[in-house]
Amino acid sequence: MAKNIQAIRGMHDVLPDQTPLWQFLERRVAGVLAAYGYREIRMPILEQTELFKRSIGEVTDIVEKEMYTFDDRNGDSLTLRPEGTAGCVRAAMENGLLHNQTQRLWYQGPMFRHERPQKGRYRQFHQIGVETFGMPGPDVDAELILITARIWRELGIDGLELQLNTLGSADERAAYRTELVDYLQAHHERLDADSRRRLGSNPLRILDSKNPAMRELLDGAPTMHAHLGDETRRHLDFVCDTLTRAGVAFVLNPRLVRGLDYYSRTVFEWVTDRLGAQGTVCAGGRYDGLVEQLGGKPVPAVGFAMGLERLVAVLEEIDPGAGAAVADVYLVLLGDAAVTEGLVLAERLRDALPGREVVAHCGGGGMKAQFKRADRSGARYALVIGDAEVEGGTVALKSLRADEEQILVARDAIVDVLLARLAV
Ligand code: HAM
Repeated sequence: MAKNIQAIRGMHDVLPDQTPLWQFLERRVAGVLAAYGYREIRMPILEQTELFKRSIGEVTDIVEKEMYTFDDRNGDSLTLRPEGTAGCVRAAMENGLLHNQTQRLWYQGPMFRHERPQKGRYRQFHQIGVETFGMPGPDVDAELILITARIWRELGIDGLELQLNTLGSADERAAYRTELVDYLQAHHERLDADSRRRLGSNPLRILDSKNPAMRELLDGAPTMHAHLGDETRRHLDFVCDTLTRAGVAFVLNPRLVRGLDYYSRTVFEWVTDRLGAQGTVCAGGRYDGLVEQLGGKPVPAVGFAMGLERLVAVLEEIDPGAGAAVADVYLVLLGDAAVTEGLVLAERLRDALPGREVVAHCGGGGMKAQFKRADRSGARYALVIGDAEVEGGTVALKSLRADEEQILVARDAIVDVLLARLAV
């Protein structure tokens, strides 16, 4: 027999008993974003490879080794998006959304990175991302972080730590880079192979090294702080003051550098210790140079993205039942005539009971088997139609959760009886 085809490693099905939690998460986040005046944008999943190379940066893990890139039938190099910022900027530029206006946008969907799969790290994963354009000041940086804090409250997630840093302006970063390279150069023999390679191309990323052998060397490295100009300091101070006044706690982490090259000034990450090594559930920052880098007039921008698999994992620990839907009414239908009557009655019930879940049994089977399904659906009430009820124009109403007498109700009266019962 041929071997069954399986899903691609690191790419997962979200099964029906998991989707309620996903929907709960997606609905709550969309609700918060709407409350702040953010509007949804939907971009293609495939983009030209060049877009990611030019925005995320040639010397990043993502572009160097994680992208799903292929030539299409015309020989064009395309890439499954590893993140949403690049495509959102491309879409906003291409559709004239950046001319003399501000934008507050959000998107959601699958992203693809060929990383080594482990708990919390997948090759297809999902993000909800937010991007804003045209606002140069720290006000919107603070707003974005307040949004994330509200999202955690709405989801009932506590215990996340907010880490904050500034990467300065391009000039400030360049000056810091020189000092950092000098320091690392002087300790060249203590650098691992990866860091030696990065020294010439992307030395700031060395700070993010996970290699414990490098820890001491990096702890002694100069920080960005001395190179920050007044403007950058004011920007950071404003964000910190606003967060403090709004009651959002944060930790300043001078080693927070992010894995994508487009950032400047504010960067932040929300981290949990509930998920082991992959603890960052949300991350983002300012990227004032990106639009120009992609060929547009300079437009300031800032955004973030949250990883839905990681948030679902946190929610599963806290409240696995969140968002779970259960049926309200299950129709047990015994015999062909009853099935027809039942399907018609179910239509009437759905008209009369908006928002309620009404499930009509399909697929035949005896009374016992159907009641088993009714019970598993979680429904509070079963409506039973058999030959006698067809004949008498009635339906039997049985509570599946409470110790109530089964009663026989005229078919015309059942909507009112159910409305009254379900209301309590
Ligand atoms: P990122 O830090 O690469 O940033 O990803 C954001 C979040 O996506 C991470 O914090 C994590 O929760 C989730 N994530 C990333 N990779 C994986 C993976 N392999 N498996 C599961 N979850 C993952 C960005 O993508 C930027 N575009 C964020 C941004 C928006 N910055 C400005 N605007």
